[in-house]
Amino acid sequence: QKDGYDHYMLKEIFEQPKVVKDTLAPRLPMDQDDIVLDNITLTKEVLEKINKIYIVACGTASYTGLVGKYLIERVARIPVVAEVASEFRYRDPIMDENTLMIVVSQSGETADTLAALRLAKQAGAHVIGIVNVVGSTISRDADDVLYTLAGPEIAVASTKAYSAQLCAMYLLSIKIAMELGKLSKDAFIELRKELYLLPEKVSQVLSQVDDIKALADKYINSKNVFYIGRGLDFAVSMEGALKLKEIAYLHAEPYAAGELKHGPIALIEDNSLLVGLTAHEELYDKTVSNIKEVKARGANVLAIALEDNKDISKIADDVIYVPRTHWMFTSLLANIPQQIFAYYISVGLGHDVDKPRNLAKSVTVE
Ligand code: M6R
Repeated sequence: QKDGYDHYMLKEIFEQPKVVKDTLAPRLPMDQDDIVLDNITLTKEVLEKINKIYIVACGTASYTGLVGKYLIERVARIPVVAEVASEFRYRDPIMDENTLMIVVSQSGETADTLAALRLAKQAGAHVIGIVNVVGSTISRDADDVLYTLAGPEIAVASTKAYSAQLCAMYLLSIKIAMELGKLSKDAFIELRKELYLLPEKVSQVLSQVDDIKALADKYINSKNVFYIGRGLDFAVSMEGALKLKEIAYLHAEPYAAGELKHGPIALIEDNSLLVGLTAHEELYDKTVSNIKEVKARGANVLAIALEDNKDISKIADDVIYVPRTHWMFTSLLANIPQQIFAYYISVGLGHDVDKPRNLAKSVTVE
């Protein structure tokens, strides 16, 4: 069932144009100027009373939460806390009927995420699940479900499910903003146009697979890999570092780019590898100046940039370009090179890509 691919992970990476389309298109009918989320019962009246949102999840799904926090706060202007479920569940979090919880889970069975959901329900909060597996425990226990239509994900390392989660988060943040009157119909129509273009843009990133493989071969002997970014890019850098750790077993750390000079920059030495994310354009100049500081200390720099920000090639050793889209949706495109990069490093090092050591696909015990 690998359809000719060497591993499930690579097959799932290449399924992403379809997964993005499947998750977005049914919710964006062209004959209605609205997002249609069938299984969401949260009414405008309840939403208007929500004064705090928690987004709770584990691992890769928790990085969807970081993107969600950024987007919902920016477009809907409600305070959002994004947190890992294993911490959230034991700190007696403050919730009531004016709290909205969004839980994110591919499997729908992750023990800590489920425990967080149950705490929220006990407190009277409304819970929306962004879930991939239909009929899973989280999908049944949440008040509402927004399914990611990614199909079964076999590889332990999440790729297509994460992209589908981002799409679901895009829909949810836009929907909340519209319901609250924070986003006009015209603005929505513009966003919908961009969302419809995303599958093709994902394909454009995937078409660079050979170039990205060559970069994986070039940097395969890196011992310490630093991922940096600001804003949405910081969330993406967390996912990039996790992917490299879990399948390539390389030491990889994500940092908010602005934090480097508060300590981590002391770790940089000749031949450290820095993956610099510069797709969140509003913060481009700031991140580029951090990249320059690291470059000056001897690191090799692999940048991920928007297609027309060509000046980055004067600073970075290598650049992977991704197509331009609306700023809200850059994370999806910027992340895909990181998946391919980690995949080929893992393959090159001879690891079991689909079943990395010590890891299980579904973590049903805490
Ligand atoms: O099934 P879930 O989405 O709840 O799983 C959460 C994490 O265990 C999962 O994302 C894990 O971090 C993956 N191995 C990442 O690739």
